[in-house]
Amino acid sequence: MTAIHSLKTTRLLLALLVAGLTQLSLPTAADAAPESRIDELLQKMTLREKIGQLNLSSAGDITTGQATNSVTETRIIDGEIGGLFNISQPDKIREAQRLAVEESAHGIPLLFGMDVIHGYKTVFPIPLALASTWDMQLIEESSRIAAREASAEGICWTFSPMVDISRDPRWGRVAEGVGEDPFLGSRIAEAMVRGYQGQDLSQPHTLLACVKHFALYGASEAGRDYNTTDMSRLKMYNDYLPPYKAAIDAGAGSVMTSFNDIDGIPASANRWLLTDLLRKQWGFDGFVVTDYTTILEMIAHGLGDLETVSSLALKAGVDMDMVSEGFTQTLENAVASGDVTEQQIDQACRRILEAKFELGLFDAPYQYLDRQRAEKEVFSEKHRQTARQIAAQSMVLLKNQNQLLPLEKTGTIAVIGPLADNKANMPGTWSVAANLDRAVSIVEGLRQAVDDQAKILYAKGANIYADPLLESRVSIFGKDTGRDPRSEEELIAEALRIAESADVIVAVLGESAEMSGESASRSDIDLPATQRKLLQALLETGKPVALTLLAGRPLTLEWEDQRVPAILNAWFPGSEAGHAVADVLFGDVNPSGKLPSTWPRNVGQIPVYYNHKSTGRPQPPDSEHVKFRTNYLDVSNRPLYPFGYGLSYTTFEYSDLRLSSDQLGPGDTLTVSVELANTGQRPGAEVVQLYLRDLAASITRPVKELKGFKKISLKPGQRKTVSFTLSEDDLKFYNSQLEHVTEPGEHHVFVGGNSVDLLSAPFELVD
Ligand code: NOJ
Repeated sequence: MTAIHSLKTTRLLLALLVAGLTQLSLPTAADAAPESRIDELLQKMTLREKIGQLNLSSAGDITTGQATNSVTETRIIDGEIGGLFNISQPDKIREAQRLAVEESAHGIPLLFGMDVIHGYKTVFPIPLALASTWDMQLIEESSRIAAREASAEGICWTFSPMVDISRDPRWGRVAEGVGEDPFLGSRIAEAMVRGYQGQDLSQPHTLLACVKHFALYGASEAGRDYNTTDMSRLKMYNDYLPPYKAAIDAGAGSVMTSFNDIDGIPASANRWLLTDLLRKQWGFDGFVVTDYTTILEMIAHGLGDLETVSSLALKAGVDMDMVSEGFTQTLENAVASGDVTEQQIDQACRRILEAKFELGLFDAPYQYLDRQRAEKEVFSEKHRQTARQIAAQSMVLLKNQNQLLPLEKTGTIAVIGPLADNKANMPGTWSVAANLDRAVSIVEGLRQAVDDQAKILYAKGANIYADPLLESRVSIFGKDTGRDPRSEEELIAEALRIAESADVIVAVLGESAEMSGESASRSDIDLPATQRKLLQALLETGKPVALTLLAGRPLTLEWEDQRVPAILNAWFPGSEAGHAVADVLFGDVNPSGKLPSTWPRNVGQIPVYYNHKSTGRPQPPDSEHVKFRTNYLDVSNRPLYPFGYGLSYTTFEYSDLRLSSDQLGPGDTLTVSVELANTGQRPGAEVVQLYLRDLAASITRPVKELKGFKKISLKPGQRKTVSFTLSEDDLKFYNSQLEHVTEPGEHHVFVGGNSVDLLSAPFELVD
C-alpha cells in the first residue's frame, strides 16, 4: 500500500473513530469515498477531457483581473489541461485555479508544479552540498521549509527529489543530485520525501514529491547531458536504482521519467521500467509524469511519429505528458484506431485525480494560496537562519596546511575573485523562485562578520571566463554575468595592489551558477584558466591564500591542491552564502561536511568512484604503478579527494574497532563499535562512516560499500564510543538472477572518517 492509499485509509479510520466517540453523524461521502467520486467523474468526462487531465503545460500566459482569453485560459476552461508549471505568481495561480474549478465543465482543480529543488525563496545549498552535510534531519528540514514557502504561494507539487546517482562530474546535473553512493542517496531521498510530503499530503503546507529522473539519467555517456545510457541490470539494481526505490518506499506520490534510453528504449516508453519494475515489483501507485518534451523527443530518438510515441508512452505507464502535447494531439486517434484503449486512458486519469484528491484540492482548491502565511513565512528571518546553518554544515574543508583557517577577525583581509562580490550566483542552479538580489554576497558576509575589528578589501581580479563567448553560452538565460571590460592584466594588477596591504588573501573562485545544472556539461573541469592565472599571481605575493571555492560539481583541483595552503569548498551555499562562508572562514562554525562524490585528479580518471570492483588485477595497495595491473601510465588510480572526505579545524582519532561477535547469523545482529576522540583544540563534528566488503561471492562485489554513518559532535579532548548495528539485511545484494540475497562467507567491516582511512575487522556471515 502506498502512502497515498494508506493516508486515505488513516484519515477515514480517524473520521470514523471520531464519529463513533462523539456520536456525531458518519463522515460525509466526500470524506469517505474519493474513489467513488473519481468513478463518477470518469463516467461523466468525455475522452477529450480525460486526456486533458494527462496534460501538464508550461504556461506563462495567465493574466489576472480583466477577462482575457489567452490560449492557456481557454484550454483550462475546455478541460485540456490537468496541471501547470512555470507559473509562479500567486494571483496567476489563483486565476488559473478559478478557471478550472469554476468555469470548466467538471470543476476539476489543477495541479501546480514547480522545480522547488533546494528551497523556494529561501534558497538552501545546492542538493550536492546538502548531501555533503550527511545530516538527514537538516536535509529533511530544508525540504520542509521549501514546502512551507512554496505551498503558501500556490504550489502543491515539486519536481524533487532528484536522486540520480552519478559517477561523472563532467555531467552538470551532478549539482542537483545526491552524489555517487546508493546508500547515502537513499537516505537523502527518504529525508526529502518526508520533508516535502509531511505526514498528510492534504495539509496546506505540504508538497507532493516527484522522484526523478527515472531512471539512470546520471549515467549519461561521457557526462553529456541527455545522452544515452547503457548498463547491466546488475549495476542498475545494486548501484543506480536504490535511491529511487527508497523515495518510493518513503511514499513519494509521483515519478518523473528521464531523457535517456535504457536498453534501447527511452525511459518514457519503457514498459519494463515504468510498469514491471516500478509498479509491479516496487508497488508504486502514484502517477508518472514525463520530463519536459520526452514524448516528443522519442521522434528524434527514432521510435516513430508523434502518435506512435505517445501511444508507446501511455502503454508503458506514463500518466502525464509534460509539454509534448503528444497525448492531447494523438490519443483520441489512437483510441479510434484501437492502438490504445479508453481503459488505459481512464487508468492514467484516475491516478492524476487521486493525486488531486490526496492533495485536498477537490475540497479546498485554493488551500495552497495563503497570503498571510506567505507574508509571515516566505524568506523569513527564521528560514534564513536555518539556511545559514545548513549552508555552513555543507561546506567541505579540502585542505588546511598549518591551520591557516580559521582566520582571525583582525588585520587586513583581501577578498579577491569574480565570485566574491556577487549575489546572483550564490543560490546556484535551479533557484527558480529566488530573488537573486537578496542573496548575501561573500564580501558582504565577511564585512558583517568582522564589523570594525578587521579591514576587508575587495577586488574582482578576473572575470569568470576570459572568453566572452563561453561566458555568454554559459549564461543562456541572459543573466548579467557582471563581466568586467578591463583586460586580464588590468584586473590582476588591481588585485595585486589590494593584496599588497593585506595580511591574508581570501580568493573566491570557481564556477558560475550556470556552469553546472541542466545542459551544462563540461569536458574540462579545471578552474577556468583566467581564474587560475589570478590565483597564481596571488600565490606569488607570498601572502597566505585561502581559496574559497564555489562549485556545482567536483572540480579537477590538483594544481591548486599542490600550491594553495587552504581550500574550502563552499559549493553554492544559497541565500545566506556570505554569512555561512564567514561563519566557517572565521571558525564560528567548524566545518564538518564530507564529500558525497569522489574528486578526480584529471578528467581521464572519470569515472572514478570509491565502490568500484577489485578486478582480477588489482593495483597493489600503496603502489602508484605496477605493470600488468589495472592502472594508468600517467596518473595514479587514487582520486584527489576520496568519497566521504572532509577536514575539520580539530582532529579526530579512531581506535579500538570492536565487533560483538566474529559471526553474524540469520536473525542476529552484530554490533560494531569504535572509539572516537576529538584530539584537537576545538569542538567539532565528525561523520563516522561504516563500510562493508564481501570477500567471496557468486558475483564480483565492490571493494567497499557504505552501510552506515553517524554525525558525532565532540568537545576538545572528549571521547565517545560510536556503535552501529548490522543485520543480515545490510549484507544483501542482487545476484545474477536479480534476487536480493546474502551469501555466507567472510566479510570485512571498515570504520573511519572517509572511504580511504579506515580501521577494519573481519567477520563471517553464517547460515
Ligand atoms: C527538465 C528537467 O530535466 C527536470 O528536472 C525539470 O523538473 C523539468 N525540466 C521541469 O522544469
